[in-house]
Amino acid sequence: MKILGILASHKEHGIQAQLLSEVLDNVEPGVETETIYLENYEITPNKYHEKNPVLEELVQKLNEADVWVFSAPTYWRELSGVLKNFFDCMRPKFVYFKENGDTIPGQFKNKHYLSITSCYVSPLENFLTGVTDESFKTIDRVMSAAGVIKTGEIVLPGTFGMKEIPNYKKEQCHKFAKKISVKKRKDDSTLKRYIQLFFMIAVMALITMGIQIPLKPFINSSFWLNYLSFTLIFFVLLACILHFVTFVKHRRR
Ligand SMILES: Cc1cc2nc3c(=O)[nH]c(=O)nc-3n(C[C@H](O)[C@H](O)[C@H](O)COP(=O)(O)O)c2cc1C
Repeated sequence: MKILGILASHKEHGIQAQLLSEVLDNVEPGVETETIYLENYEITPNKYHEKNPVLEELVQKLNEADVWVFSAPTYWRELSGVLKNFFDCMRPKFVYFKENGDTIPGQFKNKHYLSITSCYVSPLENFLTGVTDESFKTIDRVMSAAGVIKTGEIVLPGTFGMKEIPNYKKEQCHKFAKKISVKKRKDDSTLKRYIQLFFMIAVMALITMGIQIPLKPFINSSFWLNYLSFTLIFFVLLACILHFVTFVKHRRR
């Protein structure tokens, strides 16, 4: 079992580096770890017919690891350029192309990843405005195309002037360290998803029936009106919550 930390910050020993080591230094005994600092590599795109030894070396490192931990700060409300460049140059290694240009997951399918980011804005501002969301979204988009499975997110807002990461964040890093130390078979969160879906449906049905109470004088007389209003309200609520859970929800504190 091996975990590869990928540090994509301008600072080799800054907050992102600390967050990454806090995870990697606390994995279970026997789990091998390695950290690569992307700024040490001259990462350029693959040119046709030319060998690209840097990309080949990185591909080998990615291949040897079971879990990848991306540690990249949020720059300009986006993923740091160095990680984005790494993703751009790795595209032909991450995905296979079909004849029509569509992509399917490539050689790294079913590996796992953890994302870590940080930003200057305060926890409250990040909670309200989601400054770090785009960083997570970009990582998720690329990893989903590559068929790599997500294990979680760690975010540290309020890093302006910070010299050392706070204890509560260290504890969170330790929890993730334990989580990613266990070898997983493909995507094993199916049961969790069914349980979440059950509770979502239960809550949506409750809210729908609550909204229907004041409508009773108009709809109670007809079974079909009752049914139609329930279906419409339920559909709108469920669409909103599914959108939130799938596209919007990222860790912000
Ligand atoms: C080029 C650049 C752009 C940044 N943009 C933002 C930003 O848009 N919002 C923010 O809250 N912090 C921003 N920051 C602050 C970083 O997110 C923050 O310094 C981060 O915690 C850096 O981690 P480090 O110590 O590993 O460099 C930016 C920093 C740099 C260098």
